[in-house]
Amino acid sequence: MAKKILRCTVNGRQIELAVAPNQTLVQVLRDELNLTGTKVGCDMGTCGCCTVHINGKAKLSCLTLALECQGAQITTIEGLNQYELHPLQKAFAEKGGSQCGFCTPGFIMKSAALLAENPAPSREEIAAGLSGNLCRCTGYVKIYDAVEQAAQEMQRAEAPAPAPART
Ligand code: FES
Ligand code: FES
Repeated sequence: MAKKILRCTVNGRQIELAVAPNQTLVQVLRDELNLTGTKVGCDMGTCGCCTVHINGKAKLSCLTLALECQGAQITTIEGLNQYELHPLQKAFAEKGGSQCGFCTPGFIMKSAALLAENPAPSREEIAAGLSGNLCRCTGYVKIYDAVEQAAQEMQRAEAPAPAPART
């Protein structure tokens, strides 16, 4: 199949790459750009492991053809916070939300999109928002705990600083 040029931005970097019409986004990310943080679990849209952000929305990169991403802004787990851990990454580590870790990038990318839309989700909203992501290692309690902790930390970080006390 004749390749075509894909031009897009991945983690803030302009990409120009020849890709085949049948190459999926996750194949290009992992095999061409060496961004192996994005995982392939089922390769058929049922596990959420391959979740990335395309123009700010959580998408399954195993179901997305790379050439559908012309001009798009793509963010992977490597680009979520380039210079320090994202609050979600810290919270997953601290709360034990990651066992083997295979599903974790997908959970974190989906959670980041969820918190961008709803900065203070209830436990039920977290569970519903993450219902398309599967973890084969453990239950979901620690994962939901981690998302709750990250949401609280992100809200604290955005809260205006208290006014200095009068003396
Ligand atoms: Fe994409 Fe499972 S690898 S949904
Ligand atoms: Fe192993 Fe989720 S931590 S699959």
